[in-house]
Amino acid sequence: MPDFNGKVAIVTGGATLIGEAVAKAFADKGAKVVIADINEEGGKAVADRVGANAGFHKTDLRQDADIRDLVDTTAKTHGRIDFLVNVACTYLDNGADSTRAEWLEAFDTNVVGSVMLMQAARPHLAKTRGAIVNFGSISSRVAQTGRWLYPVSKAAILQLTRNQAMDLAPDGIRVNAVSPGWTWSALMVELTKNNREKTDSVAAPFHLAGRVGDAEEVANAVVFLCSDEASFINGTDIRVDGGYTAMGPERADAAIPLLMD
Ligand SMILES: NC(=O)c1ccc[n+]([C@@H]2O[C@H](COP(=O)([O-])OP(=O)(O)OC[C@H]3O[C@@H](n4cnc5c(N)ncnc54)[C@H](O)[C@@H]3O)[C@@H](O)[C@H]2O)c1
Repeated sequence: MPDFNGKVAIVTGGATLIGEAVAKAFADKGAKVVIADINEEGGKAVADRVGANAGFHKTDLRQDADIRDLVDTTAKTHGRIDFLVNVACTYLDNGADSTRAEWLEAFDTNVVGSVMLMQAARPHLAKTRGAIVNFGSISSRVAQTGRWLYPVSKAAILQLTRNQAMDLAPDGIRVNAVSPGWTWSALMVELTKNNREKTDSVAAPFHLAGRVGDAEEVANAVVFLCSDEASFINGTDIRVDGGYTAMGPERADAAIPLLMD
C-alpha cells in the first residue's frame, strides 16, 4: 500500500461518490487532500466525512481566478502539491442537437478546466516530481446513442493525457488516466432511486464482471497511478471497466450457435 504521508493532492469534482472515494483513498494513505468543486454543500460534507486530512476549496473550473486561488491557497496552506486528480465533469449533452454554447460549456468543464489547473500547478508538481490522473471513460472509445459532447470530451481527455505526458516528462511529472465503466455514482443513485440491484442487472450484459463498478475500485487505480509503484507508467490509461471494452458486439453470448438454429 503506498504511503502518501507528507504529500498533497487536489481532487476536482470531489463532492459526489467517485470524488469522495478518491479523496478518502488519498487521505487514508496519509495525504492531505483538497477537494475542489463548484458544489460547496456537497464538497464540505465530503471533506467532513473524509476527516482531518481533507479540506474543501470552492472552485469553478471554468474560472481562471478560482483555479489560481485553489493552487495558491493549497501551496500556501500545505507547502507543496504532489497530485492532481481531475474527477470533475459535466454530463451536459444534447447529442446531435447540441448547440455551440453547449459544446463550449462541456469542453470548458471536462477538458479546458483541467488544462488550466495543470498550468497553474505545474511549477509545484515539477518541484515534487508529481503526478496527474485524468478521468476518461468507456465513452472515450465507443459511440453511445444520443450522446456527443460527453464521449467526445472523454476521448479528448485520453489524447490530452498523451500530450501532457510528453511535454511534462522533462519536469518529472507523470500523466495518466483511468477509464471507468459504469460505476455506482451519484447519477446512478438518482436515476434508479438508489437501487443498486437494478443498476447491476442493467449493467450485467455489457460488463464481464456482471455488475457496475464501485467508486473505491476506481479510486484504487488512481492511487496506484500516483504511487511510486507506477513510476514507469506514463501517458496511458487504466480501464477500470469490468471488462466492458474487452467485449465486442457479440457481448458474452455465444453467437455461432445461432447460425445452426
Ligand atoms: N459514473 C460513471 O459511471 C462514470 C463512468 C465513467 C467515467 N466516469 C467519470 O468519473 C468522473 C466522476 O463522475 P460522476 O458520475 O461521479 O460525476 P458527478 O456528476 O457525480 O460528479 C462530478 C462533480 O464535478 C463537479 N463539477 C461540475 N462542474 C464543475 C466545475 N465547473 N467546477 C468544479 N467542479 C465541477 C460537480 O459539482 C460534481 O461534484 C467523471 O470524470 C466521469 O466522466 C463516471
